[in-house]
Amino acid sequence: MNQTTRQRLQLGTIVVLLLVIAAMAYKFIVAGSVEPAADGRMAIVLEPGERDFVLREMRGFVAGLQQLTAALARDDMKAAASAASGMGMHAAHGAPAAMVAKLPLQFKTLGFSVHREFDTIAADAERLGDAKHTLAQLADTLQKCVACHDAYQFKATVAH
Ligand code: HEC
Repeated sequence: MNQTTRQRLQLGTIVVLLLVIAAMAYKFIVAGSVEPAADGRMAIVLEPGERDFVLREMRGFVAGLQQLTAALARDDMKAAASAASGMGMHAAHGAPAAMVAKLPLQFKTLGFSVHREFDTIAADAERLGDAKHTLAQLADTLQKCVACHDAYQFKATVAH
């Protein structure tokens, strides 16, 4: 094997490896583990335990919204800020990396922006003390819950 052939082979190997890395990055960061669902949404395919994990987080949102709206009705802006911050970014920590890799990029972007907005809602509730303002911010953020539920569902792999 002469020098040029060896260099071409090495170059070829590097190109193939780069393509593999690009494909993996696409799969784990952008595409996620999805398939079309019967109702027209995209199904994100998760292990049963991972699906339980995200659904528990979702129910945490409903519990947080209950506290937040109750606090707003009482004009208790301290309690409103605390309820909102319970749904903030720190609530997103602890998601298993293997599961996050299965979520499409659009899903992760929407999900993180909802958590981030709850931090803003909390900070503004504390700073402005204006229930009507908080309610308007909340209505905006809730559109993202609606948008995501319109686009995605979770499907569990068969338990094994
Ligand atoms: C990034 C996407 C996304 C966002 C944002 C999101 N959800 Fe969900 N949520 C889902 C998916 C997907 C499901 C599963 C739906 C299905 O399988 O039909 C779900 C399920 C739920 C469930 C059902 C839980 C259960 O135990 O079955 C509730 C309640 C819920 N979401 C509330 C909310 C609320 C409230 C918000 C906003 C504060 C929100 N979600 C934001 C994607 C999202």
